[in-house]
Amino acid sequence: MQETILVTGGAGYIGSHTAIALAERGHRVVIVDNLANSSRRAVERIGELARAEVDFHEVDLVDNEALGEVFGQHAISSVIHFAGLKAVGESVAEPLGYYRTNLISTINLLEQMEANHVWDLVFSSSATVYGDPDLLPIPEDAKLQPTNPYGRTKLMIEDICRDVAAADDRWRISLLRYFNPVGAHPSGRIGEDPRGIPNNLVPYVMQVAVGRRDQVQVYGDDWNTADGTGVRDYIHVVDLAMGHLAALDHLEPGCDVFNLGTGTGASVFEIIKTTENVSGRPIPFEVIGRRDGDIATSLADPSKANRNLEWRADRSLDVMLADSWNWQSKHPNGFADDDPGAPTDAPAPDPDGGGASPMPTS
Ligand code: NAD
Ligand code: UD1
Repeated sequence: MQETILVTGGAGYIGSHTAIALAERGHRVVIVDNLANSSRRAVERIGELARAEVDFHEVDLVDNEALGEVFGQHAISSVIHFAGLKAVGESVAEPLGYYRTNLISTINLLEQMEANHVWDLVFSSSATVYGDPDLLPIPEDAKLQPTNPYGRTKLMIEDICRDVAAADDRWRISLLRYFNPVGAHPSGRIGEDPRGIPNNLVPYVMQVAVGRRDQVQVYGDDWNTADGTGVRDYIHVVDLAMGHLAALDHLEPGCDVFNLGTGTGASVFEIIKTTENVSGRPIPFEVIGRRDGDIATSLADPSKANRNLEWRADRSLDVMLADSWNWQSKHPNGFADDDPGAPTDAPAPDPDGGGASPMPTS
């Protein structure tokens, strides 16, 4: 059945991939995004790739009145809430901005949902709520101990969702704790497009591969892991997008929480080596000191989502990095490459450089 789904933050990295999957499933997609960390190009690409019309509203979720107007214009049946600020370091430097944007946006959204009798919500939480985990792989009932303001906004929003669901049993809420999303749509037409210097490993490695940056700084090779570098549970963004569809399909009264990860870890050295293989480019690196707040290993126990959502992330690390490279090699400067006259700081891409995986089958 066709439903109208509001996707907040739908122009962003994970939201745009999810919007495509929703539209391909036949849903009507309404995107609300203030483009604070994304490009209008991404919205155009969603429509193009899904061969569907997508409604886009350039609205800041902090503006409750403008958000109310969007609800007034569409018969929304459910919401996927991606919008928010997500840079850990920035959240430490500007905590008030993070609390204001992430919390007020969510409170406004929940108020508008309630006022318009929309009770179905899927929310982007993060593995960051676990902080430095006591147990690996991490189950959903592990201790929640975020170590920075960004992570605390995620935990506070989770608590708000649990409270509203406890107060009114019409709510059906799914909190999804993502591990480390990487990869891109196999077309290479959309992908992650970080502003400035990437904080996360894979976008940084891709920018080195494409010649935009000289070398990767490896944050320590003395961790308690097999090769001494940090281990993370990387998940393909298309698998993650499919996890949202599964969560929508399996919503139940109340508020439930799911880890979305693969359950398999990869080290920094494995990421570098695999990127060299899929790109055919050397990735120079130097080992420097540990990054503040880092942990040795983060690994999901995704068995609850596998079981209850009938969902599994099965794209391999090779496919994740081949798809990241396909996007990066076609767009060395991200979406700016598609804007005539936009400044570029990268050499022309190697036409043999792309290494796309087959189209998603799910
Ligand atoms: P992103 O920055 O690409 O997407 C977020 C989108 O929200 C952007 O398009 C941005 O313009 C928009 N936005 C921000 N503030 C807004 C506001 N006030 N009003 C309207 N739109 C606003 O990030 P992403 O990687 O796609 O992440 C999506 C969600 O998933 C975020 O909530 C993030 O915290 C969460 N998450 C991301 C990761 C990750 O590694 N990418 C991991 C765990 C959780
Ligand atoms: C970061 C965030 C976390 C967020 C997650 C997914 C921090 C402190 N944490 O975590 O809140 O949920 O992204 O978005 O920012 N690395 C390097 N060199 C680099 C970059 C990273 O060696 O230039 C290493 C890190 O030490 C880590 C691994 O690569 O071992 C992955 O790092 P990153 O991509 O930043 O993800 P997280 O550390 O999981």
